Amino acid sequence: MSKIHRKFKYKIDQKGIINRYFHEKENWKSHLENTKKFILKSAKNKNNKIAVILGSGWWLDIPVIELSKIFETVFLIDIFHQKEILYKAKKIPNLKFIETDITGLAETVLETVALSQKRNAKKIRLTDLIPKISNFGIPEIIKPDFIVSVNLLNQLDILITSYLKNQNLYSPKEIKDFQKYIQQNHLNSLKVNKTCLITDYKELNFNKNNVLEYENQLVFVDFPKNKFEDNWEWKFDMNGRYNKNLQTIFKVRAIDF
Ligand SMILES: C[S@@+](CC[C@H](N)C(=O)[O-])C[C@H]1O[C@@H](n2cnc3c(N)ncnc32)[C@H](O)[C@@H]1O
Repeated sequence: MSKIHRKFKYKIDQKGIINRYFHEKENWKSHLENTKKFILKSAKNKNNKIAVILGSGWWLDIPVIELSKIFETVFLIDIFHQKEILYKAKKIPNLKFIETDITGLAETVLETVALSQKRNAKKIRLTDLIPKISNFGIPEIIKPDFIVSVNLLNQLDILITSYLKNQNLYSPKEIKDFQKYIQQNHLNSLKVNKTCLITDYKELNFNKNNVLEYENQLVFVDFPKNKFEDNWEWKFDMNGRYNKNLQTIFKVRAIDF
């Protein structure tokens, strides 16, 4: 696990989230509230034994206390749980923490890169890699009633593929196909009738005259058919730190399916 953290910078990324939050607190407010509200709405039509929260991080966008009152057990799953969060959780007895790579591919990518760098190595197709994860890292016997994927879908591919881009082993098309593969695997792991999926899917960048300079697609797969949905904008960076001198806004979609 520590090698994955080193190579893909997961912990640095998590620190980046909390630092940006402190800079953008007011701007993030409505996004965080909308996310929590949607999760609680989606929780209403589910059985109340096991909830699984994917990408729980700093709990910024997760109504942990409310969920712990609705469900018998709440699993919080992330690549890393900060000590401040573990401390906060001490007062809530029905929370369980799991640290795992939700893609199940991070370790395999490192092995693949190491193999590919050997002399005369045969090229391994990224989309042939098999994820090493099932049931979100929870024991197989435990069946979730409610699965929440929180502002995670487009994060899953970013750190892995930015590492891959630096290795110069794969073409932009191969990397784009792999991003799609990671995201589709994630959607396939979510169970119909039990899922709340919330994700930013488009990045908009505005200049100081409020003119759109450019946009980036962040999700490359189709959203599943939903029972209900909501959409909003997340004022992610209004201070030109994420993209220099630009204001960055994410379009967010929340679906229950
Ligand atoms: C944008 S944050 C979502 C906000 C988060 N709920 C919070 O309140 O901090 C995405 C979260 O997904 C986690 N994450 C990213 N890639 C992951 C992976 N491959 N496996 C597990 N967790 C991952 C990050 O560590 C981070 O906590």
